[in-house]
Amino acid sequence: MNSVTYQESSIFQRKSSRLHHPEKIIPKSLILELLKAAQWAPSSSNKQPWRYIIFDKSDPEQFKKGLELLYDGNKKWAKNASLLILAVAEAEDEEGKFIPISLHDLGLANENILIRATEAGLVTRPMGGFDKAKTKQFLELPNSLYPLVMIAVGYPGDKNHVDPSIAERENAPRQRKNLSEIAFFGNLDNPIKE
Ligand SMILES: Cc1cc2nc3c(=O)[nH]c(=O)nc-3n(C[C@H](O)[C@H](O)[C@H](O)COP(=O)(O)O)c2cc1C
Repeated sequence: MNSVTYQESSIFQRKSSRLHHPEKIIPKSLILELLKAAQWAPSSSNKQPWRYIIFDKSDPEQFKKGLELLYDGNKKWAKNASLLILAVAEAEDEEGKFIPISLHDLGLANENILIRATEAGLVTRPMGGFDKAKTKQFLELPNSLYPLVMIAVGYPGDKNHVDPSIAERENAPRQRKNLSEIAFFGNLDNPIKE
């Protein structure tokens, strides 16, 4: 594998976007690639607790059903996405006990989707802002399946595709905590400085 700098890496290139092209469709082969990226994520005891339900705009009725699950603030821009991917965790063991690590593993698989989409020239935005009770009911999910996020995936759009208030939010600088707030050598008294 060729070496790339941090700045060139898809981890650094990825960012969440609300600007999706409203008319483009993602070919089935590329949808499969995104799902394969998730499939190859690591997981605790290789349990692979991720499940994905796809709402694809090539089937407008199907896409509309996914869109209906989102809260209004997200609907406004996510209507332009080409794909809505509902990420669900198999989050209970045989005795019905919650398995917290399943949410971690689903997150790893989700990030793989975001990264692969970025490499393929797509834009993405994960959303916690959707109605989980309605989702469980509508999709008749068993109790063991926990719908965690909906991921909007599309081709890059521009500001004319969204309300001005949403376009403005896209201009906001991306924020990150300093490394010294999140990472430590040995114990919490020893923050790691850049
Ligand atoms: C679990 C999760 C839930 C999120 N929910 C929403 C959401 O409902 N609506 C939204 O516009 N963005 C949502 N985001 C996107 C975050 O706001 C975004 O990831 C964060 O601001 C960092 O920006 P970046 O992804 O460009 O690095 C969510 C992200 C994650 C990981």
